Amino acid sequence: MYVPDRILTNRDFERMVDTSDEWIRERTGIIERRIAAEDQASSDLAVIAARRALESAGIDVGDVDQIIVATTTPDRILPSCACTVQQKLGAKRAAAYDVFAACTGFIYGLGVGRGMVATGMCETVLVIGVETLSRIVDYTDRNTCVLFGDGAGAAVLQACDAGIGVHAVDMHSDGELGEVLEVPAGISRNPASDRTVAAHEHYIRMQGKKLFPFAVRSMSDSTRRCAEASGWSADEIDLFIPHQANLRIIEGVRERLGVAEDKVYVNIDRYGNTSSASIPIALDECVRSGRLKPGDKLAMAAFGGGATWGATAMTWTIPQQRPAASSGRNASVREAVS
Ligand code: ACO
Repeated sequence: MYVPDRILTNRDFERMVDTSDEWIRERTGIIERRIAAEDQASSDLAVIAARRALESAGIDVGDVDQIIVATTTPDRILPSCACTVQQKLGAKRAAAYDVFAACTGFIYGLGVGRGMVATGMCETVLVIGVETLSRIVDYTDRNTCVLFGDGAGAAVLQACDAGIGVHAVDMHSDGELGEVLEVPAGISRNPASDRTVAAHEHYIRMQGKKLFPFAVRSMSDSTRRCAEASGWSADEIDLFIPHQANLRIIEGVRERLGVAEDKVYVNIDRYGNTSSASIPIALDECVRSGRLKPGDKLAMAAFGGGATWGATAMTWTIPQQRPAASSGRNASVREAVS
């Protein structure tokens, strides 16, 4: 994983919009989030996470067959973020492409990558979840701006013995819910113009209340399906990593699934919602802290714009990794989003 050094706290937001630290903590569980530096685009974050993943896996970049980048915030719409990452990594052999599935992007990327490995089309797939959501957040809209942060996480997939590794990936979409979470302008439906810029149409718009029950239902149902496909009951899961969108959503999913509190990983307080990056960031923290051990039954689930949702269940195979290099200086950065 990699997160930018800059920190934006709830207190910072109190000076930007009509909100309070108390409201944000109580309604979302978020205390602070990371914000990319002005000169950092998504590919810059992704490349750092990717290098760390390759180093941990002991894989040479020249051996990567495919790079799948899950993101809603590519550097540009053309070329893909994945091609930029490929060039920066020097992964000359790899085919590279983006997956657009909002916050479910990493689960989708894992599903595609797993298929590539399982069918024998690839030996080594690099799956990256990365976002610089601060670039599409309207910092005058209190309904959305407090929720999102920037970051990246990456994983290397290779084949393993039958009975361990990824047992199931569950992927779903419902385009009927498309307008519940959208960026209204910028591409073919509503190209950029002075009007779209003035109307703040290049920023995220969200009907949070409608997403909330959908998120609880979809993540818990999808996780249960994956657990059952793996031959487990939900209460046998050793570690559950949910997408970090709202602490109350996570609690709702946990209750509906019947998973014990100490089996659920939460870091939303430190990063907010980093969309495609939230699951691989959490996964890396669990592996490096020893929270996830070989043989553990791991489930991960996400929901997001589209609408999209999905989950995966796996028996973890990798021993504890050493801690990642410190991300360095922590600074409060109101100026980063002014
Ligand atoms: N500070 C203070 N008040 C606020 C803030 C804020 N930052 N944001 C909203 N409010 C106000 C609202 O305006 C509303 O006021 P009103 O009653 O006068 O109209 C009041 O708080 C309550 O608003 P609700 O919408 O009822 O608050 P709720 O408890 O539903 O929490 C939230 C809102 C946090 C957005 C929640 O609905 C949520 O987390 N939904 C899921 C959103 C989500 O996860 N989206 C990401 C999807 S993933 C992806 O693909 C990017």
